[in-house]
Amino acid sequence: MQDTIHKKWWKEKVVYQLYPRSFKDANGDGIGDLKGIIEKLDYIQNLGIDVVWLNPVYESPNDDMGYDISDYRSIMKEFGSMDDFEMLVKGLHDRGIKIIMDLVVNHTSDEHRWFKESRKSKDNPYRNYYHWWDAEKGKPPYRWSIFDKESNAWKYDAATNSYYFHIFSEKQPDLNWENPEVRYEVYDMMKFWLDKGIDGFRMDVIACISKDTTFPQMPSNMPVGEWFPYYAQGPHLHEYLQEMNREVFSKYDCMNVGEMSFITTENALLFVDEDRQELQTFYHFDNTGDGVSNENFMYADDSNWDLVSWKNIFYKWDQVFETKGWGTIYLGNHDMSRMVSRFGNDSEKYRSISAKMLHTFILSMRATPYIYYGDEIGMTNTNHTNIENYQDLYTINYYNGLKQKGEDHEGFLKSHAKISRDNARTPMQWDHQTQAGFSNVKPWLAVNANYKDINVAEQECNPNSVLHYFRKMVGLRKSNETLIYGKFDLVDSTNEQLFAFTRRLGNEMLLVVLNFSDSPAVLITTIPFSNSTILISNIEHPQIDHSFKPYAAVIYKIYNK
Ligand code: NOJ
Repeated sequence: MQDTIHKKWWKEKVVYQLYPRSFKDANGDGIGDLKGIIEKLDYIQNLGIDVVWLNPVYESPNDDMGYDISDYRSIMKEFGSMDDFEMLVKGLHDRGIKIIMDLVVNHTSDEHRWFKESRKSKDNPYRNYYHWWDAEKGKPPYRWSIFDKESNAWKYDAATNSYYFHIFSEKQPDLNWENPEVRYEVYDMMKFWLDKGIDGFRMDVIACISKDTTFPQMPSNMPVGEWFPYYAQGPHLHEYLQEMNREVFSKYDCMNVGEMSFITTENALLFVDEDRQELQTFYHFDNTGDGVSNENFMYADDSNWDLVSWKNIFYKWDQVFETKGWGTIYLGNHDMSRMVSRFGNDSEKYRSISAKMLHTFILSMRATPYIYYGDEIGMTNTNHTNIENYQDLYTINYYNGLKQKGEDHEGFLKSHAKISRDNARTPMQWDHQTQAGFSNVKPWLAVNANYKDINVAEQECNPNSVLHYFRKMVGLRKSNETLIYGKFDLVDSTNEQLFAFTRRLGNEMLLVVLNFSDSPAVLITTIPFSNSTILISNIEHPQIDHSFKPYAAVIYKIYNK
């Protein structure tokens, strides 16, 4: 095994994803900002993490909270200035922390200069920066749009009697990557930020940049899983990524992670096999999509979640990267509900222990771990069932669409509440003061009502808190190569309550046992673990004989295996 390890710094890092709008408001407008993050740099450093991924901070009308960019080279005014940004980069670097930014280049805002030009006339030099369908040819073949009220990805634009294409909202027109001018504009922009000193990019819906741009009719009733290459993973994707690598990535010692839809274990290595010079890593949705209805991703559906198949997803993906490529692991981000509500148990009794269990999991897998802000203190879902409490267009547009059609919009919201994105976008809970210490005015999105019980100040004082455990677990991962590079194998793989696995490197073997359930569970294994050294556990006596307490997490060090 040791021979096949390809060590790289970006495989060894722990990434902390920070949603700037909700982290800390320094200027008292109810919106988080860069100065707010700067105020909290010591907190970030004390987490022990190595890299911050910053969600978009570019100029944007905020139809989709910054994922609709109107100027790639300036900072959103609500967040601050370029000076603030430079100060933030320096503050992070001074503390030995790297920073990666979101690269959102499948689409721009409709308020981007390129689009404003493009829609003016058919012979405008920017016309070909986007996908247009001439209405003289009739209506374009239907395409689904994830954020559109009518779920229609084509929007009619009277100025030139044409439709433009937008997979996301109508304010997010898709860029035409077949036009080399678009591609080179993007590469230049990437270099602009890398030259400022950032350390890489998280690449938004990167698989969508290539699609079938002849826009043929899609077969009716086609299962979602077969929708590529109509929306993503199109014929030129590898060509574009290789070009980007040649033009940009190969010139910097930086890191990248692609958000990759429609990826399978079969085509995965085509993206991250080092020899192909495309990407370093990507993240897929196989394990986080569980619990969400497969039909249109809008409804919660727990019927498709069971631990045994979930474990197999991780196993299957680990196998892909056994000797080539490298994976990522995350259980929460700004597009999902809170990890402890989704995969743990957010009841008062189990919230803290199950959050610690999930951190043990993320930080002991063979992949680069991503931790979402607030998860280090076990922040939970809000589960709002009243539309007034939402800010996310994803929820609001779908709700209004159903309402317009006279369909069950309230029923939708009841189900969707559990998986809505706003669950995980609420302000960071710093202390028990009004607005959880995030701001001194009413924030853009209400703080979670439980901030008096769950907040950083309280957890700093409590040695048993999720926060202290998280720091300890990060420290353990970083000081133990087996946790980073060790071979991964499932143990007792059909156990319906326990996720148990070994990590092996050289002579060292670790056994990780995680109880994902609220009742005791027995581990069936011949590995003699009972008297082994415990490297970390979320409970003092996690196990009696082979039975593990509810939500117990424990890592044993077992030698010479
Ligand atoms: C994926 C991002 O993570 C999500 O927040 C955004 O809405 C879409 N891409 C569109 O950019």
